[in-house]
Amino acid sequence: MKKRSEPALPTELGRHIIIDTDPSPDDAVAFLVALASPAELNVLAITTVAGNVPIELTSKNARKALELAACADVPVYAGAAAPLVRPLVTAEHVHGRTGFDGYDLPEPIMPLQSAFAPEAIVDMVMSKPPGEVTLCCLAPLTNIALALAKEPRLAARLKEIVLMGGSFAEGGNITPAAEFNIYVDPEAAARVFNCGAPITMIPLDCTHQARTTTQRLEKLRRLDTPLAEAFYHLLKFNKIFDEQKYGWEGGPLHDATVIAYLLAPELFAGRQVNVQIECASSLTLGMTVVDWWSVTGRPANVKVLNQINASGYFDLVIERLSRFPLSDAADG
Ligand code: BDR
Ligand code: CA
Repeated sequence: MKKRSEPALPTELGRHIIIDTDPSPDDAVAFLVALASPAELNVLAITTVAGNVPIELTSKNARKALELAACADVPVYAGAAAPLVRPLVTAEHVHGRTGFDGYDLPEPIMPLQSAFAPEAIVDMVMSKPPGEVTLCCLAPLTNIALALAKEPRLAARLKEIVLMGGSFAEGGNITPAAEFNIYVDPEAAARVFNCGAPITMIPLDCTHQARTTTQRLEKLRRLDTPLAEAFYHLLKFNKIFDEQKYGWEGGPLHDATVIAYLLAPELFAGRQVNVQIECASSLTLGMTVVDWWSVTGRPANVKVLNQINASGYFDLVIERLSRFPLSDAADG
């Protein structure tokens, strides 16, 4: 196993990142694209949380994908098994019982790190100079809220939080009003959205434009690598649910937008606005209340991206996935 050395972040875009995730395939594509981009991104760790499936499975799926990519040296920390105050809601109806249905990957051998993910996040961020670490959040925000509670200076220390979650005009995907990641742990989301760190939110408005059409999946498959073949089948399984639900061709490739935004922000457009999280109403629980027209006078706390260049996004994702297996040079 190759040992990763810490890159010097040579480019203007260079960042240290921590990826907090609940793998399903779109999460895994996100962290693989990041790992294939060592000139721009240094992945300090992957932290897992309960979400799409319970924590044991999200932690297992993360390691399955890393081993498939020959990246077993990336540390994986398991985090919260349940939201802050509510019972866990999962999404097996989308991703299957394992969260990774559609292609059988071997049981992982690489170990989980011993530390609890929120504590590891605090340690990693606080051990770097201020403004160096970006949190990439692809899942319910429980681990991040716990980290903020453990270390009140954490928010001021971050460069940015970039998250996939919420919705503005698109409506919800788990209730009429709420997107899954925010709905699962709205109290955690409320804590994070008001923490004071710069936040970029990539909502369903954006990710629903970025769909795994047959043409895009076939292009991925033509890479003709074991990794591409696995993700071709995993994403093909995923899109069955979305195609039936929405009547579209393809399913949204949600989470890789977070990494694509760091690599190519010009593919996205949006607006700096105030966003608050509904935590009380049973009808609209987990709704991201986006003050797009600035009618409240509340100060902007989030950059909401509602447009994406979908073909540019898939070109980027497929080009980065074509880099596997990573060469020594690309491996950092
Ligand atoms: C979000 O929910 C999960 O199923 C996806 O991985 C994504 O993070 C989309 O609502
Ligand atoms: Ca996710």
